[in-house]
Amino acid sequence: MSLAALPKVELHLHLEGAAPPAFVRGLAAEKGISVAGLFDAAGAYAFDDFWQFLRVYEAATAVLQTPADYARLTTAVLEERAADGVIYLEAFLSPDFCGGGDLAAWREYLAAIREAADAAEAGGITLRGIVTCIRHLGPDQARRVALCAAETAGDWLVGFGIAGDERPFHPRDFAWAFDCAREAGLRLTAHAGEWDGPASVRATLEHLRPERIGHGVRAVEEPALVAHLAETGTVLEVCPGSNIALGLYPDWRAHPVDRLRRAGVTVTLSTDDPPFFHTTLSAEYDRLAEAFGWEADDFAALNRAALDAAFCDGATRDRLAPRLARD
Ligand code: ADE
Ligand code: ZN
Repeated sequence: MSLAALPKVELHLHLEGAAPPAFVRGLAAEKGISVAGLFDAAGAYAFDDFWQFLRVYEAATAVLQTPADYARLTTAVLEERAADGVIYLEAFLSPDFCGGGDLAAWREYLAAIREAADAAEAGGITLRGIVTCIRHLGPDQARRVALCAAETAGDWLVGFGIAGDERPFHPRDFAWAFDCAREAGLRLTAHAGEWDGPASVRATLEHLRPERIGHGVRAVEEPALVAHLAETGTVLEVCPGSNIALGLYPDWRAHPVDRLRRAGVTVTLSTDDPPFFHTTLSAEYDRLAEAFGWEADDFAALNRAALDAAFCDGATRDRLAPRLARD
């Protein structure tokens, strides 16, 4: 079986970050919004570094203005991911962009996203949502977003997390938001160890107590932390193509995912914001196969680990597991 045909589980994808550039341009034209400066001559998202990436990402997201826009985005994203073999996806959803943190508005956006996701099940892909606060918007806004998450927690909205610029504020500033989400029964993940080093992973584990870490790859710089991640079964949502496109590592062979996996850390593979980084999950698999000699059985094992680490309920996991089975 080719790697493209392999059924895949993806746990780390930002819904807005998966918006195809043509989709954003089309919606902008319909609404008469200028997207000048967001795209290069070939029509791809244009940015030079992580911080400019965040600005382009937020400017592109500004064309999404209604629940109906988010429904169309969800349909477009799920069609593309399903065509790449993804059978189960967890997407980061941001009440900050969907109603600005207002609960009534968020409920409308969430209903529209869910309706589009339910329709996409016929195409063989299951979506679950993780509400994500945005670190650089600060702890007060994160509290509002956590309340949105807590009020809509359930069998579809299954998790809570934090993304954005890792450097402003300290993880402890977001402990209230994470406690609120945890008490509502949400499972927890947090971006850390991407733009900040091992200390940020340690502080995140201590103060936010997530069971998964988004990226987390810079833990590799501290062997004791790597051992701790392995012992505790902390799951890393690793997005190698994102890290390489944003300049964290110079090339695929330099990426620490293979070292982390060999050290016994539970690693899963995702694309983060695929069109921004010119990637798909199949393309990630191809590059990793070239760089580290990983084979179809390795990817199948990584997908089983990802399904085990998924935040969906047991019935959903049991329904999907046979589709990952290899004979
Ligand atoms: N939001 C979207 N992509 C992100 C990333 N790679 N890191 C932090 N926040 C993000
Ligand atoms: Zn991310």
